[in-house]
Amino acid sequence: MKILVTGGAGYIGSHTCVELLQKGYEVVVIDNFDNSSPESIKRVEEITGKAVTLYQGDVRNGELLDKIFCEHKIDWVIHFAGLKAVGESCAKPIEYYNNNLYGTLVLTEKMRKHGCKKIVFSSSATVYGDPEVLPLTEECKTGGTTNPYGTSKYFQEIMLNDIYKSDNLWTVVLLRYFNPVGAHPSGRIGEAPQGIPNNLTPYIAKVAVGSLKEVGVFGDDYPTHDGTGVRDYIHVVDLAKGHVAAIDKTVKSGVYVYNLGTGIGYSVLDVIHAFEKACGRKLPYSIKPRRAGDIAACYADASKAKRGLGWQANLGIDEMCQSHWKWQSENPNGYKD
Ligand code: NAD
Ligand code: UFG
Repeated sequence: MKILVTGGAGYIGSHTCVELLQKGYEVVVIDNFDNSSPESIKRVEEITGKAVTLYQGDVRNGELLDKIFCEHKIDWVIHFAGLKAVGESCAKPIEYYNNNLYGTLVLTEKMRKHGCKKIVFSSSATVYGDPEVLPLTEECKTGGTTNPYGTSKYFQEIMLNDIYKSDNLWTVVLLRYFNPVGAHPSGRIGEAPQGIPNNLTPYIAKVAVGSLKEVGVFGDDYPTHDGTGVRDYIHVVDLAKGHVAAIDKTVKSGVYVYNLGTGIGYSVLDVIHAFEKACGRKLPYSIKPRRAGDIAACYADASKAKRGLGWQANLGIDEMCQSHWKWQSENPNGYKD
């Protein structure tokens, strides 16, 4: 079976390519390297000993998609390509809606044209907005998103639902990721954010490696066990395996929605302490004001993915921090090393 992975050179995409290749799938990647480097694909090939067919280009380029679908009989598309920084999306909503919404439109139009109607889509826990109840099940209300990035994910889910309603031959799997962290145990691929990281674990990792001074903890007055924000961190390798399970286990057309998380919530301080254990030293941090738009707590009920896909996360917070530390310490400048 041949899988087209859009955004396959990125953080989650590259880990998913590894799992797909190791399960015997053939992998074709399209990536414009807007937020990644071809080096990650070289390393995917090195880890697996298998080749990836790589097209450099944009998913909004319909001619390139025609070429790819003509040159390969694609069975499934896994659609990672998109922009993902919450803060940047508020400053650049046009770019975010253009890339994320228009990208999905061009892609699905070309999938329909070439008779490939099976898609796994990278959605996010952000579609739930500020949760009314925890843990979040797939039936919880969506919408009420607070930034263009989140709204683009919510809209893309609606678009894909409408496509299925218009043609019941489509298979749409919406995977709502919680907080992906960690890296491949080889230390060869991982998250390589450009500039100062916005997300917690890459920021902690930069402090651990000495390139940033201290971790700012955004608020310690939330109604959580230690006052700091609680999230459902999931190891990127578990997350990648969730995509393979989605393809393996989804045999009938339809729209399927799954939370991919561990079901366990860790606070900011819990993560800092787990990282200290992984890197073997105390990490400086200080309490800062709350970050605008943040919610107190967010974690999944991940039981539907277990029932529907036979998938569950197996790796815990220690493995997440250890693998992240191995990646960060062996590649302090990401793929530039
Ligand atoms: P990433 O930025 O590392 O990967 C995205 C990849 O897509 C990059 O390689 C980038 O170069 C490429 N890309 C972007 N726009 C493109 C376009 N128009 N054409 C071709 N390639 C394009 O991000 P990631 O963390 O791997 O996220 C993958 C997907 O998962 C994204 O859709 C993201 O919104 C979603 N997601 C991520 C998280 C997270 O915390 N990392 C959480 C929930 C959902
Ligand atoms: N935090 C800090 N200091 C930092 C960075 C983050 O204290 O330097 C705190 C935040 O306040 C929050 C927690 O760490 O309580 C996690 O923050 P992240 O920025 O790592 O992640 P978010 O939960 O805010 O958002 C992430 C992605 C979104 C995605 C969402 C749900 O950035 O794209 O997870 O999947 F939608």
